[in-house]
Amino acid sequence: MADTTYDVVIIGGGPGGYNAAIRAGQLGLRVACVDKGIDGGGTLGGTCLNVGCMPSKALLHASELYELATRDFAGIGIDVAPKLNLKQMQAQKAESVGQLTKGIEFLFKKNKVDRYQGAGKIAGPGKVEVTGADGAVASLAAKDIVIATGSLPSGLPGVEVDNRRILDSTGALSLPEVPGHLVVIGAGIIGLELGSVWRRLGAKVTVVEFLDRITPGMDAEVAKAFQRALAKQGMDFKLGAKVTGAKASKKGVSLTCEPVAGGAAETIEADYVLLAIGRRPYTDGLGLESVGITPDKRGFIETDHWKTSAPGVWAIGDVTHGPMLAHKAEEEAVACIETIAGKAGHVNYGIIPSVVYTYPEVAWVGKTEEELKAEGRAYKAGRFPFTANSRARINHETDGFVKVLADAATDEVLGAHLIGPSVSEMIGEYCVAMEFRAASEDVARTCHPHPTRSEALRQAAMGVEGWTMQA
Ligand code: FAD
Ligand code: NAI
Repeated sequence: MADTTYDVVIIGGGPGGYNAAIRAGQLGLRVACVDKGIDGGGTLGGTCLNVGCMPSKALLHASELYELATRDFAGIGIDVAPKLNLKQMQAQKAESVGQLTKGIEFLFKKNKVDRYQGAGKIAGPGKVEVTGADGAVASLAAKDIVIATGSLPSGLPGVEVDNRRILDSTGALSLPEVPGHLVVIGAGIIGLELGSVWRRLGAKVTVVEFLDRITPGMDAEVAKAFQRALAKQGMDFKLGAKVTGAKASKKGVSLTCEPVAGGAAETIEADYVLLAIGRRPYTDGLGLESVGITPDKRGFIETDHWKTSAPGVWAIGDVTHGPMLAHKAEEEAVACIETIAGKAGHVNYGIIPSVVYTYPEVAWVGKTEEELKAEGRAYKAGRFPFTANSRARINHETDGFVKVLADAATDEVLGAHLIGPSVSEMIGEYCVAMEFRAASEDVARTCHPHPTRSEALRQAAMGVEGWTMQA
């Protein structure tokens, strides 16, 4: 009989769980990862690889190229007549996702991680039971248990997701046709990314948002510019609006909403509705009570340096507090396992970047202006528009700007806010600078290659001391 005694058993095979398993294997711990897959599917990678980051980025990339081909190619001297092949677009997405999930299997083998397919349940201190699809139960013993069970889409009373007409993000990633009219509930990251995909492919998109702004948490100046850019592309926004119900038929959805501030209700007819109002931690059936863990009011498992209230039980990723991001889960995975292995695990929660992969993209790290004002911290801001960046001009991609915030007294960089094409690939520069506690002058005096969009990052840093040269 196989030995089922481990140093660490990890429940969940998403970015939290699989990175924890790999790091544990690297450090020579005897490790198992229990994962039931998304909707019972047999692939590793969790939400991110199967129904999150990766399939959404595949559709964002393909739909952006489609829009460029239909809208912009003629202007740069390429005449084409593009035709959408949605079936192929979905197939290439599925193929890339398949390769990525297989990649995790390979990494598990390479790092000697035992994989258990099935639902994991904590059955008391140091014990995990795994129930496979066939109902067979395996019992594992572990010195340490790491919970990395992730999150699920949040529901809204009166809006019943059926993934036929009323969709969550998973349904919106796999539509078999381009909607005539897609109504998105929630102007957050999922709503704007997936709304962009379907708008580019031809849908009319209306976004209904409870607050009077889009993307809460994003620097307000950037969010305003972002909304303007999306509206210019044809996305409609209904801000300060409350959805009160949605009725699906075979052919579409009738959605009722009313102004949050009071006023007349209205009915919106849609072909499809995407509900994207956030995600909730996933702890259903996990047996937390067997070790005395009670999630907080919102369902999150509370931790102190990834330790839960139960000895030998740890939690990382979406199931715990903090931004619900794959790279946050990965950071916590490494720190948690290194702590278990007796090393000094560390996560710098102040330097976790955020990105919205739309056009233009938005990327930021550190404090927003609103946060600095609320803290009463004196700061200086440097700005640089992409209209003044030579590479952006040559590429006809001048949307957006860079804003750098630095401490007024010490010049330490406190935040960087970027909006424009490809800024997702540039924010890392400021993450590194901030990790080294750089001053804005350090960035301003660092040679950047010409002609690149990255020069805008340097020019904005120069702006903190008022010597931006190229605008
Ligand atoms: P998950 O990835 O949710 O993995 C948890 C795993 O545990 C799942 O496989 C689940 O089935 C399994 N599980 C749950 N309970 C049990 C149990 N009892 N037994 C066994 N297995 C169990 N983040 C980014 O950083 N960048 C992006 O671009 C991005 N895009 C996104 C797009 C969409 C549409 C969505 C929905 C999310 C996106 N995210 C993105 C968020 C990202 O997917 C999550 O933050 C990340 O997946 C969290 O990782 P995790 O390991 O904590 O949980
Ligand atoms: P979100 O938290 O980003 O946005 C939800 C939006 O819905 C907010 O603007 C909120 O004010 C609004 N809202 C809440 N209740 C509402 C209601 N009743 N009616 C109308 N609007 C309402 O959540 P979202 O977009 O669902 O994404 C979930 C998580 O997934 C995010 O926290 C994000 O971290 C992660 N994600 C990350 C991505 C990335 O990094 N690029 C991409 C997609 C998801």
